[in-house]
Amino acid sequence: MTILITGGAGFIGSNFAIDWLASNDERIVNLDKLTYAGNLENLQSLEGDDRHQFVHGDIGDAGLVGRLLQEHHPRAIINFAAESHVDRSIEGPEEFINTNVVGTSRLLQVSRKYWEGLGEDARSAFRFVHISTDEVYGSLGAGDPAFTELNRYEPNSPYSASKAASDHMIRAYFHTYGFPVVTTNCSNNYGPYQFPEKLIPLIIHNAIAGKDLPIYGDGQQIRDWLFVSDHCSAIRRVLEEGTLGEVYNIGGLNEKPNIEIVHTLCAILDELHPNVDGRSHTSQIVFVKDRPGHDRRYAVDASKIDRELGWKPAMTFEEGIRKTVEWYLANPKWVENITSGEYRQWVQRQYS
Ligand code: NAD
Ligand code: TYD
Repeated sequence: MTILITGGAGFIGSNFAIDWLASNDERIVNLDKLTYAGNLENLQSLEGDDRHQFVHGDIGDAGLVGRLLQEHHPRAIINFAAESHVDRSIEGPEEFINTNVVGTSRLLQVSRKYWEGLGEDARSAFRFVHISTDEVYGSLGAGDPAFTELNRYEPNSPYSASKAASDHMIRAYFHTYGFPVVTTNCSNNYGPYQFPEKLIPLIIHNAIAGKDLPIYGDGQQIRDWLFVSDHCSAIRRVLEEGTLGEVYNIGGLNEKPNIEIVHTLCAILDELHPNVDGRSHTSQIVFVKDRPGHDRRYAVDASKIDRELGWKPAMTFEEGIRKTVEWYLANPKWVENITSGEYRQWVQRQYS
């Protein structure tokens, strides 16, 4: 049997592929466009493994996706592919519409045709799992209850609006065509292979390089943080047992203000990679101009997936964040390769 994943050279998709094949012999076909965020080095440990086949291409390329489906006959599709960075969506929303809305819609259309052509057993077993974000629910006040699956969609950034649009298309395909979809809305992930444009890897990278640690606004914005392999285990549960047409929130039960995250990273780095002049890495913290429309707080009520599918995060934040720092310290070549070229231009535009 085979599954097709999209965006599997990115942060979460590559972790998913590695975790999947560590405990399972079912083949993965991995379709990825290799944008700036896609990196084949993330998949190096799978090189020469017949169970993993990488295909370079766009989820919006209906011809290619159709051929892949006919060739490999996957029993499921997991859609990770997306433009995923809020700041980039503020600089240029267009690519977010192209991939997250148009690309996902094309992928859905071709997948539905494939599914309709399957025999009865294969058709009833088929699943399309769409990976989305808690950001579609908008921003919470300090005392508000965490997002449940029943919250209104109130996306505030071009990124979250484009993800919300794709979630709506998924929902429409279930209601209109009976297409067997399940959607997950997850909180902020962290862990190995995350591109250092996102808060945690950016802070680790800058701290080691002796650069400023930029904190937007007052640093009191709150996110819920989940270790990436816990997200992957939740997706596996949803794939196997999720109810069709349903939405599952996934969260780390771990809300923290950004400033606290940065202080935690500095403390670990002071121990594992101290500055040569003995100054704490906290001396590199700089408060910079706030992100426009910056959402104040995200918090996820993940009780539905716990109750219905028996999933809970396994990793504590203390353990996960230390593992993450250790991974970046142990993989300087990965960081060096990924932070050359386009990355430098982005940092120049974003932080100058
Ligand atoms: P990422 O930016 O690291 O990776 C995205 C991957 O998708 C890259 O490999 C890229 O090359 C690929 N891609 C982009 N456009 C494509 C296209 N048109 N066709 C094929 N491939 C394309 O993102 P990530 O952090 O791994 O996020 C994966 C998914 O999880 C996204 O859908 C994102 O919205 C969602 N999500 C992410 C987080 C998080 O904290 N990172 C949290 C919740 C949900
Ligand atoms: P990010 O990792 O971009 O994820 P998201 O915006 O999807 O939650 O940012 C996490 C939080 O950290 C968010 O509140 C913005 C903040 N942030 C900074 O303060 N400085 C930075 O340089 C970055 C990249 C993010």
